Amino acid sequence: MPLVPMKQLLEEATKGNYAVGAYNVNNMEQMQAIIWAAKETQSPLIIQASRGALKYSSLVYLKHLMLAAVEENPEIPVAMHLDHGNSLESAKTAIGLGFTSVMIDGSLEEDGKTASDYEYNVKVTKSVVEYAHANGVTVEGELGTLGGIEDGVGSGQIHVTDPAQVQDFVEKTGVDALAVAIGTSHGAYKFKEEPKLAFDVLAEIGKRLPGFPLVMHGSSSVPEELVAIVNKYGGNMPNAKGVPMKAIQQAIPLGVRKVNVDTDSRLAMTGAIRKVFVETPEKFDPRDYLKPAREAVKQLLVGKMKDFGTAGHAGDYKPKSLEDYKKLYAG
Ligand code: G3H
Ligand code: 13P
Ligand code: ZN
Repeated sequence: MPLVPMKQLLEEATKGNYAVGAYNVNNMEQMQAIIWAAKETQSPLIIQASRGALKYSSLVYLKHLMLAAVEENPEIPVAMHLDHGNSLESAKTAIGLGFTSVMIDGSLEEDGKTASDYEYNVKVTKSVVEYAHANGVTVEGELGTLGGIEDGVGSGQIHVTDPAQVQDFVEKTGVDALAVAIGTSHGAYKFKEEPKLAFDVLAEIGKRLPGFPLVMHGSSSVPEELVAIVNKYGGNMPNAKGVPMKAIQQAIPLGVRKVNVDTDSRLAMTGAIRKVFVETPEKFDPRDYLKPAREAVKQLLVGKMKDFGTAGHAGDYKPKSLEDYKKLYAG
């Protein structure tokens, strides 16, 4: 059963110069769409649960949905990852559930909203690394803050990552991957004008941390066609804008190995459900709208797995275990 530490997926992606998509999951249909897309494209996979998702699903349901996906697809290397952990406690909970990777977002205070200071970030991140590595579990940290407040994660202000801090942060904390802020934000309204990312900052970070896996949050592309479906069938999402796929593809060779996507799956699912409701109002069996919703998410993610370069890499390597990484960290 190749449930692998995320570190291995990212190290392999570095070797192959591609990125692994990290897809948020909240329910069975999303889980199936994600794993079936990975199976169809033979892609290594990061499935991630936010604190909100774990609360929504009452922890153990989501854990078993993830494990079901792994069990059904033993040839796909999968990492189970906690998205935006806010404390040592949240990391311990995820690790207790069997997650092979955790994010500690120390760029924000425990409320998940207030931007923290550097010393706080180093301290909380280091405490999570010590606990996680003793269990063989991977840790993602974050420096700089994303914008976007509509999903309850983010300060609402963008503080672009300071490249002068990255080496010190990685050395002091021991993190395995670093989320950087280069102008992306969570949600469907990322830019008021044309999309613009700080590629100069990303390139400088890549120079200071050669070969080190970087992470891009807020990387949904908010495709016009998906927004159009939502709006056509009664939605109201004017001026929704995301990160163009070309920009993500420009970021990958600069060291981005994990690309976080949630909003696009939400859009695909909601559009498909709205369409069924409007076109066939007589239907009331949830399977009649959840099946097309699941298919829409799957098709979307098949495209992303190809575009991120993940497709075809599932069989490249022999999956390692948490025990293997426990020894590596200890040694
Ligand atoms: O970090 C943002 C993800 O889109 C998760 O969002 O906290 O609403 O589950 P959520
Ligand atoms: P999007 O809102 O762009 O999908 O970003 C998701 C994310 O960063 C989850 O951590
Ligand atoms: Zn995020």
